[in-house]
Amino acid sequence: MSAGLSSLGEEYQLARQPAAVCFTERALLITYLTMPAIPDQELVEALRWEAKKHFSCAIDELVIDYLVVGREGGAEGNTVEVVLVAGERAALMADLEPLKQAGLKIVAIDATPLAWVAAIQRRAPELLEGNVALVDLGAGKIDINVVRNGALRMTRRVAGGGQGITDAIARELGVSASSAELLKRQIGLENPRQALEQARADKFAEVIKQEVNRLILEVQRSIEFYRVEHRQSALQRLLLGGGTALLRGLSGYMSGYFEAPIELDDPFAEFHVEKAGFDVVRAQAPRFTAAMGLAQWEA
Ligand SMILES: Nc1ncnc2c1ncn2[C@@H]1O[C@H](COP(=O)(O)OP(=O)(O)OP(=O)(O)O)[C@@H](O)[C@H]1O
Ligand SMILES: [Mg+2]
Repeated sequence: MSAGLSSLGEEYQLARQPAAVCFTERALLITYLTMPAIPDQELVEALRWEAKKHFSCAIDELVIDYLVVGREGGAEGNTVEVVLVAGERAALMADLEPLKQAGLKIVAIDATPLAWVAAIQRRAPELLEGNVALVDLGAGKIDINVVRNGALRMTRRVAGGGQGITDAIARELGVSASSAELLKRQIGLENPRQALEQARADKFAEVIKQEVNRLILEVQRSIEFYRVEHRQSALQRLLLGGGTALLRGLSGYMSGYFEAPIELDDPFAEFHVEKAGFDVVRAQAPRFTAAMGLAQWEA
C-alpha cells in the first residue's frame, strides 16, 4: 500500500491542524526602532517605508508586522519603541507552500527570536528581567538577541557555529568529518586526554578553544554594541540555545569571558512528558527554544 503526502497528513493527523511556524533560513528583517507617537495608521505607513530601506522589491511586495514594546515622553515629544518584522510576500509564500501541501493550516508566521522570548515569557518570565542575551549557537550561524524586560531590543546574525568547529577538528587532526563530529560531541571543552593520546589531545584542545573563542568574540562584540547603542549597563544573564550550546563544558568555559551568568536554556523545564522516547528530545532541549514558543502560540 502506498501513501501519498496528503494521506500521510491524515495518518499523522496533520491535515487542518493549526500550526505556527518560523523560517530560520530566510532572513526576515527584525529591527528595533524608536518612532514618534503618531496615530496607528500613520505608524504603519511609516514602518512600511522603514522596512523598504532594507529590501529591493516594491513596497507593495512587503508584508510587515510590528510590536509596540515601550512608550516614552520626552522634551522632543512622545515616542513609541517598536520591533518591526518584515519580509517579502512572494518569498514567504514560497516557503509556506510545502507546509500547506502537507496539510498544515498556517495560523501564524513568527520571527525566531520572538518565538524564543515568548516561550520563556510563558515558562519563567523572571528570567527576562533586566537586560538578557539570548544566543542561539547553530551549525552555520549564530543569532545574538538582547531583550530588555521581556522586549526584544537587538537581534544580529553572524556566520559561524558548530560546523566550523567540526571542520577545524577534521582539518587539524586529519580525521573524517564524522569522526570529528563524534570527538567534538564526546569531548567538547572537557579534558581530551581521556579519549586521545597526548599530542593529539593537546592539538584537539587548542583547535576547539580557538574555534569557540571566535564565537565568543562575536557574542561579546554584539553585546558591547548593544550596551553602547542603548546606553545600558551590565547584562543580568546570558541564555544559550541551539545545538552548539550542547558542547560539553561550554557554559563553564564561557563564564570566564562574561560577567553575567551563562545558562543553557531549557524550554522543557516546566514540562513533564511521560511519552517513551522523549528523553532523546529532552537531551537536545536547547535546539527547541523557538519551537516551544511556536507550539504554545495563541492568537
Ligand atoms: N551534543 C552536542 N555537542 C556539541 N555539538 C552538538 C551537539 N549536538 C549537536 N551539536 C551541534 O549543533 C549544531 C546543530 O545545531 P542546531 O540544530 O541548532 O543547528 P541548525 O539550526 O540546524 O543550524 P543553523 O541555525 O546554523 O542554521 C551542529 O553543528 C552539531 O554538530
Ligand atoms: Mg538554528
